[in-house]
Amino acid sequence: MEYSKEYVEKIYKYIKNNSSVEDFKEKFHLNNVELEGLLELFRIYGKRVDIVNDNDTLIFEKPLKKNIITTKPNLNTNELIHTEICVVSDTHFGNIHQQLHLLNKVYKEAYNRGITTVLHCGDLVDGNYLNRAEQPRQQFLHGFDEQAGYVVDMYPLINGITTKYILGSHDETHYKNGQATINNWVSRCRKDMVFLGQDSAAIEINGIKIFMDHPGGGSAQSISYKPQKRIEILESYYKPKILLIGHYHKSYSFVYRNVRGVEIPSFCDKTQFQQKQGLSNVVGAYFLNIYSDNKGNIQYFEPEEIIFKPSDMWEEAGKDKTKVKQLVIK
Ligand SMILES: [Fe+2]
Ligand SMILES: [Fe+2]
Repeated sequence: MEYSKEYVEKIYKYIKNNSSVEDFKEKFHLNNVELEGLLELFRIYGKRVDIVNDNDTLIFEKPLKKNIITTKPNLNTNELIHTEICVVSDTHFGNIHQQLHLLNKVYKEAYNRGITTVLHCGDLVDGNYLNRAEQPRQQFLHGFDEQAGYVVDMYPLINGITTKYILGSHDETHYKNGQATINNWVSRCRKDMVFLGQDSAAIEINGIKIFMDHPGGGSAQSISYKPQKRIEILESYYKPKILLIGHYHKSYSFVYRNVRGVEIPSFCDKTQFQQKQGLSNVVGAYFLNIYSDNKGNIQYFEPEEIIFKPSDMWEEAGKDKTKVKQLVIK
């Protein structure tokens, strides 16, 4: 039987993310060979869908939706350097609201796009605030050993991807409590995870100056106020082309004083602490598409925002803890 492009697209649309492969086969009367043939047709027409094993049930997994307004000018890309990186932040491992399965989704997408560098803007773990007596109840991992060990054992491990990270305010509590640093454990055990600094780091990728920042303190009412202040205090030596900001668990991109600023969302659903403080919380990540000249000047910058919906999230971390496995691609 011949399948037209329209027909294949129609079937592709019919397949919902995380839906059962068995149900689909039954509905369309397909055997395994025919299903394989259909997946091949999807590939030919540039449509991606993977089949993954979710606790002994095979389900379809579609790529993350692109959520960008493209204003891409006609660039002479032969003369420009193309850089695509993924940026994540605030994983808060150990908190019952952590969303490791969504972090895995983003890393898988990065792998499929051929990305080799992922930046993490701090708060890898949930830490231990001695002055927040309610915190242990909100955690399934307590103390330094359990949290640092979890990063080593569970952080996505993908051949060809290096994660460069800074540590944030929650990570630092372990240092304040007993001079223990997450990076000491993680970077000894994980060659794919490179520590850049506590709170901040200046790096260069393809000649583009990037500053990673994990401020302290609370959020401001206006989403843009604090990030703009962060740009104002940067020394001219450090003045980057791109400023990436963790800690606020918000999603926002802006241009200010010729710096492209991006606030990176979290991988932790709203906590009791945030609820009490009246703070909003966004779960997601960014893919940055950058074209620059050989001096590191940006000619085109496209921040692609990935935002997860409440229905994507797992409510109890018990589920995250026992159901989710480490994403390993070798
Ligand atoms: Fe955080
Ligand atoms: Fe923080």
